[in-house]
Amino acid sequence: MKHLIDPTDLSREETDCIISLAEDIIRHKERYRDALRYTKLATLFYEPSTRTRLSFTSAMMELGGNVLGFSDARNSSVSKGETVSDTVRVVENFADIIAMRHHLEGAPLVASSVSGVPIINAGDGSHAHPTQTLTDLLTIKRELGHIDGITIGFCGDLKFGRTVHSLIKALSRYAGIKVILIAPDELRLPGYIKYDVCERNGVDYREVKTIEEVIGELDVLYMTRVQKERFLDEEEFDRVKDSFVLDCEKLKGAKEKMAILHPLPRVNEIRPEVDADPRAAYFRQVGNGKYVRMALIYSLLKWKDDSNHSMPEHKEWFESDRYRCPNSKCICNHEAVRPLFREGGAGRVRCVYCDTIVSNK
Ligand code: CP
Repeated sequence: MKHLIDPTDLSREETDCIISLAEDIIRHKERYRDALRYTKLATLFYEPSTRTRLSFTSAMMELGGNVLGFSDARNSSVSKGETVSDTVRVVENFADIIAMRHHLEGAPLVASSVSGVPIINAGDGSHAHPTQTLTDLLTIKRELGHIDGITIGFCGDLKFGRTVHSLIKALSRYAGIKVILIAPDELRLPGYIKYDVCERNGVDYREVKTIEEVIGELDVLYMTRVQKERFLDEEEFDRVKDSFVLDCEKLKGAKEKMAILHPLPRVNEIRPEVDADPRAAYFRQVGNGKYVRMALIYSLLKWKDDSNHSMPEHKEWFESDRYRCPNSKCICNHEAVRPLFREGGAGRVRCVYCDTIVSNK
């Protein structure tokens, strides 16, 4: 069975297959109208969402299926203390596939370890957001005609921006990708993405401080919101919240065919005046999210009993009681889960649930 917890759970071929299917669905919507009749998707959302939850719902409805679930875990038995594992063991009786968003990093991975139906990570804390990645890849393909060979600038909150982490991971499997990281010191990309993903896969990346110095190089400008809800210190948020604001003036040196993406919601990092620019692709990106989720749900259900589409083997993971994950937002510090770790470069060890460097107990 195939779950989607991390973008690299899909091979490059599977990713391309889902994107091509989404394009076919866009061209021939009527062919897919009844494709998943009598099939049920459960949306378990422990954290707020507009686009992801509604696009999953709309996607399933367009495929002729049904949707159940919760958008506020306080109205479920989670409020009585039910664990992620137990919740999933219950919900798999009622649904054929589950999309889960959780504020705790690694929660969808825990869900996948006990589930008899495919689990889709709809965003876990500041860790990963693989269905936004599929949305972004489809948008880049539709806006530019190709994904290989692009230069992409990620701007804003690269520390907590889970969509950035997941998209860089996915792009690391395409040819000739150049990544430019535009962020203040406080919001720089986590080390595991730079070292484990970019350096190990030979992705050309560099870090800069302003949009203006690189705008002319970019095929894609990926703007992000500074995520207030992830900060432990409000003063630090106030210091960096307005680090980057994209306006028409800053776009003057940009390529004519550049695409501006943003996972949304935006706060003030893109001025409304930019919306009228033909390169502003972020509302078209939202629409792509529905089609790519239709393709994903359809594919995961089709692949469920196909041994050619199983989860990647993680031979590098090991179980140990020697280490402690320091991340208070990791599921391993909230529920009893298997203590799983992996080698994290330079003799360090990382938690597999949240990718944080761990310490000895
Ligand atoms: N892009 C995204 O994940 O939006 P929501 O938080 O509204 O789902």
